[in-house]
Amino acid sequence: MRHWPFTQLTLTTDDLVLRIPDDHQLDELAQVAADGVVPAGAVYFPQPWASGTPEETARNVLQNHWWARGDWREDNWRLLLAVFHHGQVVGQQNLSARDFRITREARTGFWLGRRFQGRGLGTQMRAAALHLAFEHLGAERVVSTAFSDNVASRRVSEKFGYEPGGVRRLAAENRRVEAHDDVLSASRWGSQHRPAVKVEGFTECRSLFGVPAVPPPVDVVKHV
Ligand SMILES: CC(C)(COP(=O)(O)OP(=O)(O)OC[C@H]1O[C@@H](n2cnc3c(N)ncnc32)[C@H](O)[C@@H]1OP(=O)(O)O)[C@@H](O)C(=O)NCCC(=O)NCCS
Repeated sequence: MRHWPFTQLTLTTDDLVLRIPDDHQLDELAQVAADGVVPAGAVYFPQPWASGTPEETARNVLQNHWWARGDWREDNWRLLLAVFHHGQVVGQQNLSARDFRITREARTGFWLGRRFQGRGLGTQMRAAALHLAFEHLGAERVVSTAFSDNVASRRVSEKFGYEPGGVRRLAAENRRVEAHDDVLSASRWGSQHRPAVKVEGFTECRSLFGVPAVPPPVDVVKHV
């Protein structure tokens, strides 16, 4: 699509391809979600998008993608990528930011269909998002949030060396949950062995993320 350059953006890891889904792929993604994302009774998201009937869950996925595209602004964006494993849609990786040009802080979110969980794919998905954030967008930090009992999500953050950034108490689905905001800095990202990620089609999208062609130096405040 000529006028929505994100359709050209492709992230490739050892086992995965991450792209904006076309309509057919989005429908597949919605079906993966409808087939189940969270174990029965578990609360892993602040919004109950995956807790209704399969039909409701599928529609939530579709509407979330349409909303994120329609609401895209350079100072407030949400990139929702479908994740493909051997050509099959398996889940979704998000990267989002508000006022990124100024804050240089992005957030991640991710989910896999239940049958695709626990095989190391979530780790590769996060690696792809972190690579895009740090190495192409010039992020200074990335925040990933997981509820206290979401062992898999928190373990993925731990593997990348995130540091604790605080715990918030939230109400989600009428339950009290503790949300851990873990933070990965560019320096910690840069000091570790990083999985290989190939990014294609970024140049065409750069300005829509609100970042200049060459990210400004980290120390932009001059003291006299
Ligand atoms: C969170 C999610 C995306 C992670 O993807 P994944 O492919 O399952 O994760 P991976 O297999 O790459 O890694 C998970 C890690 O957690 C560990 N883990 C998972 N469940 C565990 C448990 N019950 N106890 C201890 N460790 C556990 C795994 O061993 C692995 O660590 P390791 O590589 O050191 O062995 C996926 O599990 C998911 O979609 N969950 C439901 C939706 C969700 O919670 N989304 C995130 C909301 S914050």
